[in-house]
Amino acid sequence: MGVVKMSGLVHQLVHQARRTFSREKTLPEEMEKLKKIMSQITPKDFNLDSTAIDKPWDYPPFVTDAPAAFMNVYECSEFNVAIFMLKANKEMPLHDHPEMHGLMKILSGSMCVTSYNRPEKRGSNSYIARFFRSILATPATEPCHFTPEEGNIHQIKAQDSHVAFLDILAPPYAPEEGRDCTYYFKDTKQSNQDENLIWLISGQNPSWFSCIPQPYNGPKVD
Ligand SMILES: [Fe+2]
Repeated sequence: MGVVKMSGLVHQLVHQARRTFSREKTLPEEMEKLKKIMSQITPKDFNLDSTAIDKPWDYPPFVTDAPAAFMNVYECSEFNVAIFMLKANKEMPLHDHPEMHGLMKILSGSMCVTSYNRPEKRGSNSYIARFFRSILATPATEPCHFTPEEGNIHQIKAQDSHVAFLDILAPPYAPEEGRDCTYYFKDTKQSNQDENLIWLISGQNPSWFSCIPQPYNGPKVD
């Protein structure tokens, strides 16, 4: 019975994500239902046992220094569901999610998420962004929600153990539709009187960061 219940939650998650994001306008009550399912979900629902989050890093293709990995759980044109893993004390650089909503739920470990609102362009690759919040997220933390405007760019730092988090992006990245991932770096030459504003320079994925695919062995959803 337990197995049926576990796979059931992943199915419920995908079906609720469909109800939440397959409309012109995201209804708050549908978003709340999705968050509620995310709050209940655990690594076991994805067939990740307590050591599986550490184990993938030992596979031969991943003995490189990649600090992050991901497993694709489900993808359609409206949204995608993935599990990201970040090694202890490593970070995902500041990056954006253009025109997208995002929901993140920690499955294991803890991480600091520092986010800013959508950056405003001030030059060819110069931007200014307003601080949104910085939180230490654990499995007990409510799913973090960002919108196309609010908290849309973020930097993630794993604390002293490996972290796994569930990530739903709606719609998914699609460079051909103008939704590519841009990275941002603090522009230390600029200063601002308002300490909640930060000057940024956009750029490519920094050489020290890579996020590599891992096989997903959890329940499949059609
Ligand atoms: Fe992100």
